Amino acid sequence: MSFRTQPLPAARLNRCQLFGPGSRPALFEKMAASAADVINLDLEDSVAPDDKEQARKNIIQAIGDVDWGDKTVSVRINGLDTPFWYRDVVDLLEQAGDRLDQIMIPKAGNASDIYAVDALVTAVERAKGRQKKIAFEAIIETAAGICHVEDIASASPRMEAISLGAADFAASMGMATTGIGGTQENYYMHHEGAKYWSDPWHWAQAKIVAACRTHGVLPVDGPFGDFSDEAGFRAQALRSATLGMVGKWAIHPSQVALANEVFSPSEKAVTEAREILAAMEEATRTGAGATVYKGRLVDIASIKQAQVIVTQADKIAAKG
Ligand code: COA
Ligand code: MG
Repeated sequence: MSFRTQPLPAARLNRCQLFGPGSRPALFEKMAASAADVINLDLEDSVAPDDKEQARKNIIQAIGDVDWGDKTVSVRINGLDTPFWYRDVVDLLEQAGDRLDQIMIPKAGNASDIYAVDALVTAVERAKGRQKKIAFEAIIETAAGICHVEDIASASPRMEAISLGAADFAASMGMATTGIGGTQENYYMHHEGAKYWSDPWHWAQAKIVAACRTHGVLPVDGPFGDFSDEAGFRAQALRSATLGMVGKWAIHPSQVALANEVFSPSEKAVTEAREILAAMEEATRTGAGATVYKGRLVDIASIKQAQVIVTQADKIAAKG
């Protein structure tokens, strides 16, 4: 390992981020009552331009009025290419209560985008004497964003999470699909008459995970558009979890339990991880760096792999 050790991301759970339009305040109580770890109140693309102002007011009021329990409360502001974003930031930071945890920056293209929002947020925080420091999460959903993802991950100490936004990403990349995540009909390998589907999101996901892990940021999988396709959502989420992502968005309440299930390690996985830790503790006691567990090699690296699973299980147990 480099002498620079890998920083730990925020210690909170981020298995599911439930979205709802700021223009549908009737949904806010339902979102708060859900089992999602993170709530994303949206001012961006689920809100029509004429509704932006009212949506801001709805969100500011709901941040104070609704009981959000122990959830992380995040607001997605408009993109920096719109006339709306500065007012989103100023009104939120001037008027929303301390229950606001995080701002989500969509379509982040480079580190300067994060810097610009940071400068504005910092100024309003100081002017208003806000004690609680607002965290940032960003969405990688453009070609520029994926090219600069490492700079984005390290652009501010406020950065806590980065999501892949499949729909805008596909559009920006010129991908020949209107699907939001998941298997794409025309993305397959062909062998001896059979089709084998591969994953067109894999490269972007792996790149985001690497950038996030380097800088102690939580990597998150974004939306899966077809909310009637449970099996498709589960398959996509399982791939994301296997690659190192910690959670996934829900764009409909039916996806919350699915995300929580996939991003909570199974009892079997936790038991195995604890057994591997025990086996390695025993090996270490006898001076060995490696041993055999269920017929396969485990060594000092296995301790770290098992620890990932045990740490997640401990966080979930602590939440109750
Ligand atoms: N959060 C909490 N509850 C929600 C919800 C959400 N995002 N979306 C719908 N519900 C509720 C509905 O109010 C309804 O409740 P009821 O049983 O008490 O009547 C129930 O869940 C079933 O909803 P349904 O009729 O299937 O959905 P809908 O037609 O009302 O809305 C969407 C469907 C997709 C428009 C809506 O879920 C939505 O706006 N999702 C978020 C979109 C978004 O924020 N996109 C930006 C990020 S990509
Ligand atoms: Mg988007």
